[in-house]
Amino acid sequence: IKSAVVCVLSDSSARNKLLLISFDGFRWDYDRDVHTPHLDAMAVDGVKAQYVTPAFITITSPTHFTLLTGRYIENHGVIHNMWFNTTTQEKKQYYQSQFVDSYWDNGSLPIWITAQRQGLKAGSLHFPGTAATYRGETVEVKEVEPLFYDYSNETDWRLNIDKVIGEWFHQQDLDFVSLYFGEPDLVGHRYGPDSPERREMVEQVDRTVGYIREKARQHGLTDRLNIIMTADHGMTTVLRGGLVNEIILSEIPGFSFKDLQFHLVDYGPTGMLLPKEGKLETVYQALKGGHPHLHVYKKEEMPERLHYSKHPRLLPIILFADPGYVINGFFPLQFNKGEHGFDNQVLDMKPFFRAVGPDFQKNLEVGPFETVHVYALMCHLLEMSPEVNDGSLDYTKHMLVPRSGAEGSHSKEPFHLQFRVSAA
Ligand SMILES: *[C@@H]1O[C@H](CO)[C@@H](O)[C@H](O)[C@H]1NC(C)=O
Ligand SMILES: *[C@@H]1O[C@H](CO)[C@@H](O)[C@H](O)[C@H]1NC(C)=O
Ligand SMILES: *[C@@H]1O[C@H](CO)[C@@H](O)[C@H](O)[C@H]1NC(C)=O
Ligand SMILES: [Zn+2]
Repeated sequence: IKSAVVCVLSDSSARNKLLLISFDGFRWDYDRDVHTPHLDAMAVDGVKAQYVTPAFITITSPTHFTLLTGRYIENHGVIHNMWFNTTTQEKKQYYQSQFVDSYWDNGSLPIWITAQRQGLKAGSLHFPGTAATYRGETVEVKEVEPLFYDYSNETDWRLNIDKVIGEWFHQQDLDFVSLYFGEPDLVGHRYGPDSPERREMVEQVDRTVGYIREKARQHGLTDRLNIIMTADHGMTTVLRGGLVNEIILSEIPGFSFKDLQFHLVDYGPTGMLLPKEGKLETVYQALKGGHPHLHVYKKEEMPERLHYSKHPRLLPIILFADPGYVINGFFPLQFNKGEHGFDNQVLDMKPFFRAVGPDFQKNLEVGPFETVHVYALMCHLLEMSPEVNDGSLDYTKHMLVPRSGAEGSHSKEPFHLQFRVSAA
């Protein structure tokens, strides 16, 4: 019994803290046309991936929940930013959907809950999924943004960082925090990914990265805090103007909204349809081949690599458009200059990935991997047992500083090494 206690104590003192940060819509190459001294310094001090591949569909709540659970979207069940009910026709937007517990709590536990069950302390600020209750539990330290929150205000960003680093990690000694920023997604939508406004926002992100690392240093956390920084998806320019043949479903011959019981369209490049009883083939045959840039699938025929076909919430017909196109219902109602949601093979949909801290190698650039694997990496860093998930540490372990084995080790901490070896 005595040695078990020593192991536990030794282990808890050895475990490093982890901060997961998402900058919504930060495409993998956004640092290429902007001066980003702090992101560059982070790459020198840590690991940079060429890019990462998000889960499909490449929109905010579903892909963030993949980061938190290590499950593909068809397995975790948060299949869209919008909650909907095909019987009552009710739809809730992104913000209101955050509060529908039964939508998020569909059998996959986010990492905070598992961490808490294993005796760790977890927190989350504004990260999608933070507001919900999972099997009766919530993340214990949390902040949910108010409705109509200004996601772009740099002063607020700094206050949030002060809270997470100064209060949550330093004073309250949390082990894990997820932290979310709503940019550069909003400027990417509004002005497009090639705009000066997007470049300016990337400068703001870069200053913020510098501020986060400086705060961690001031609180003496640099040697105990791992930081993973990534995003949910990228962004691509929407094609417009007279030469573009826009996708307008109501104009496709043989297709009628009267054949549908429920639809979710006018939401970027994807859509889902529930045909009325007996109308599935009519709707499917009309739309299939109905537009050269529109992909039409019966749910069960979706390409397997997209992992977006098995969940009961997915409707029988799934639509997605080629890069540059959005799916309109009756007439064009979408005016964003940038969009995401496209096939995750499209390079413009890929987010960035950076990591720095005591467990990460320095000055290492690695190849691409899927964000479904970030969960296994986080569980490993936090020395906790993962839930069942679709990822693996095999895709990221080369980023880590090797943990030497107990045999012939020169370590100053033989006990915690022994623990790690036996726990492995
Ligand atoms: C949708 O509404 C119907 C009718 O009120 C209800 O029976 C059903 O449980 C609801 N489904 C969801 C997913 O909330
Ligand atoms: C997940 O959601 C589906 C459809 O709404 C439902 O049938 C299923 O029971 C849910 N599973 C769990 C574990 O909550
Ligand atoms: C940004 O946030 C700060 C702190 O909450 C507030 O005082 C300021 O007015 C905000 N700026 C803008 C432009 O809204
Ligand atoms: Zn997003």
